[in-house]
Amino acid sequence: SMMPVAFTVNGTACELNLDPRTTLLEALRDHLFLTGTKKGCDHGQCGACTVHVEGRRINSCLSLAAVHDGDTITTIEGLGTPDALHPMQQAFVDHDGYQCGYCTSGQIMSGVALMKEPCGAADADVKEAMSGNICRCGAYTNIVAAIQHVRK
Ligand code: FES
Repeated sequence: SMMPVAFTVNGTACELNLDPRTTLLEALRDHLFLTGTKKGCDHGQCGACTVHVEGRRINSCLSLAAVHDGDTITTIEGLGTPDALHPMQQAFVDHDGYQCGYCTSGQIMSGVALMKEPCGAADADVKEAMSGNICRCGAYTNIVAAIQHVRK
């Protein structure tokens, strides 16, 4: 049977009636049509599905939507404004922090969350902190450069 789930996504209150097995990723993509969040591995290994829950990054493929009843969620669609990209989005543009772009939403959501986490100053520290976000094109050097630009 279905269960009601209510959360706030990108500032908008959302009420859904979901199969209890629905992941947060599926709720966002298939029920709210926020398709900027990507499904890569669906097993917590790639980070393509990274979103923020209460400001912290999580892999939305690993989390059931019902667990997030009452939570505040931000997706890539919730960054920036109609007039301007979020500084992290702009930095990814300026530093060519992507190639095919499939992992980019997750990389950016992870990078934004990283700003509020303890992390050393070196590129290697950022690389380690971003190790849950896989880029199959191997654009890591530019991804780290983009994040470091925002951190400095
Ligand atoms: Fe969630 Fe890969 S799709 S970690």
